[in-house]
Amino acid sequence: MPRDITLLWALRSPCSFACPHCYFGELEEHKKALPEGLGVLSHIPVRDLDRTVLEAFARTLADSPVERVVLAGGEPLDWLPTLSLIKTIKDAGCEVVVATNGVPLTRPGIARRLVDLGVDGVSVSLDSADAATNDRLRPSRSRRVGHREVLAGIRTLLDERGSGQGPRVGIYTVVMRDRPQAITDVARLAADVGVDYYVPQPISLPADHRLFAERCHTAEDVPAVEDQLRRLQEDPRGLTVPGPSYTRQFLASIATQDSGRVEDCFGGAQLFFVQPDGSLWDCPSDRRIAATASSEQRSIAGADARTLFTDRPVRTDCSHFSRDCVNMGPLVLGMPRLLAREAT
Ligand SMILES: C[S@@+](CC[C@H](N)C(=O)[O-])C[C@H]1O[C@@H](n2cnc3c(N)ncnc32)[C@H](O)[C@@H]1O
Repeated sequence: MPRDITLLWALRSPCSFACPHCYFGELEEHKKALPEGLGVLSHIPVRDLDRTVLEAFARTLADSPVERVVLAGGEPLDWLPTLSLIKTIKDAGCEVVVATNGVPLTRPGIARRLVDLGVDGVSVSLDSADAATNDRLRPSRSRRVGHREVLAGIRTLLDERGSGQGPRVGIYTVVMRDRPQAITDVARLAADVGVDYYVPQPISLPADHRLFAERCHTAEDVPAVEDQLRRLQEDPRGLTVPGPSYTRQFLASIATQDSGRVEDCFGGAQLFFVQPDGSLWDCPSDRRIAATASSEQRSIAGADARTLFTDRPVRTDCSHFSRDCVNMGPLVLGMPRLLAREAT
């Protein structure tokens, strides 16, 4: 059986950061009323699966078609059982990439454990090279940690790795309409800190989000973003960055809010998305989730990864193109490049 599936696994709901644009929504709003509906996420963990259920599913990844697991959330490293789950997933022969806000890497022993477990990649989120701007865009709930601790976490991980092979360490930046310069500013910082890869990604918000007008790009923002992405391609400062096709898709996605066609989409063929409550989707795009029939809704709870994906179709065209598609590219087709298993 070919191993060619990437699972984007939002493992736990809570996060010590309170980014107002987060896919998981805003905690304070959800305390008033927990959102309901297909695919809806929340930082309130009432529906998160138990550790035993997660471990049972993870054990079935051995001899399954799952090649890579990207652990995200919420914050996966604020929950200690994540470390033993990583061991189970690695023992099953899968590649593991951890997406983190970076602060847990400063805690004693966490970075060392990720190195010892053989984690393949650690992607740290940072939205601005300027500390005050980053901490406004990505505030921590306590307001006591932010940019400085994120960089300290990255440095701790790089120190623990030393001259070893892994993990590869990268920075992910959410690009917002008023700050195209973040694309090259964060690249400069990433190179100075010494990380391996860097991915700027477009902010993706539903049209009724309170920050939509302020932060989401429109067609008129394309020239400034294009200029920044071109500069990054011309001078990646020694970082591995997504290639020219990513730049084209990024620009196409921010030029419109309309859905478009994606040829040969990997969603539901080579990419699946797991929510903290175990729900399994073809991809995390809210448009695609909304278009999923309830009869097609599945869960990893009690499921076996060796049989769960047997009926998956080959890649087909999808009519739900959005900014989410851009953000998924580096996880699936782009990941071998970021983890440097292919020449860059
Ligand atoms: C939801 S976080 C979870 C993992 C981890 N807690 C972290 O901070 O990276 C995963 C990634 O999604 C990004 N993200 C969150 N909301 C987004 C949005 N509306 N549009 C684009 N990216 C978003 C975050 O910045 C982060 O890079």
